[in-house]
Amino acid sequence: MSAAACAMGAAIPFLIEVDVGLGRCGVPPGKPVLELLQKTSDLPSLIFRGLNGYEGAIITHDPEEKERRCRRSNELLAESTQLLRDHGFPVEIVSGGSSNTYQITAAHPGITEVQVGSYVTMDAHNAAYGIAFEQAVTVLTTVISRPTRERAITDAGKRSLSSDHGLPLCPTPGVLLVNLNDEHGHVRLEDPEHPLRIGDKLEIVPSHGCTTIPLFDEYMVIRNDTVVAVEPILPRGTMR
Ligand SMILES: Cc1ncc(COP(=O)(O)O)c(C=O)c1O
Repeated sequence: MSAAACAMGAAIPFLIEVDVGLGRCGVPPGKPVLELLQKTSDLPSLIFRGLNGYEGAIITHDPEEKERRCRRSNELLAESTQLLRDHGFPVEIVSGGSSNTYQITAAHPGITEVQVGSYVTMDAHNAAYGIAFEQAVTVLTTVISRPTRERAITDAGKRSLSSDHGLPLCPTPGVLLVNLNDEHGHVRLEDPEHPLRIGDKLEIVPSHGCTTIPLFDEYMVIRNDTVVAVEPILPRGTMR
């Protein structure tokens, strides 16, 4: 990166990713962070800005466990920050958090940035773990069949709604989304007299917005039941 930046006459600011418990990328907290920074500090055109730790692995219904594990992740970042400062490195950005833990991370004095994604629109999965925001994104589906009084079929299956965090949610009372095929959604009606008919629309709340939203080209932005804008979904189709 340093060589490429030099060749282009550019300077690249960077954060060091610290593994604060996710077990994914990043160096272990503490001394390995310092050692990595010492190795990179002489490289031209790279500008160290701070640390990045993502505690997205903390998914639990137990608020005490969540708080304890989240605080520990935050502490690991804060301790690594202090170690770097003690060795003369200024640390400007300390980025932690996830949507599921944002209240805890945002309250930690050592964290300067909360890196939340789902927070922007929310989804049924985060709501089930007690994150009390309304869900701003839904997928509008159409009923294409009412084979029996207890069942209906929609035109949205796994190609339109991800299920890596469980089934999406139908917020319409008495209407349950119970299964997804590739291109069909299976709906169970609690009341066999339910008037749902072919052509009716059902709004479905994605269980996981991050993996559902990029299945579409555009957001239809709705205010007071009116489409007020059509916005492109930029991560759509970026895999090659
Ligand atoms: C490094 C990193 N930061 C932030 C996020 C956003 O997470 P969330 O949607 O839980 O806020 C993700 C999501 O996977 C991530 O991998």
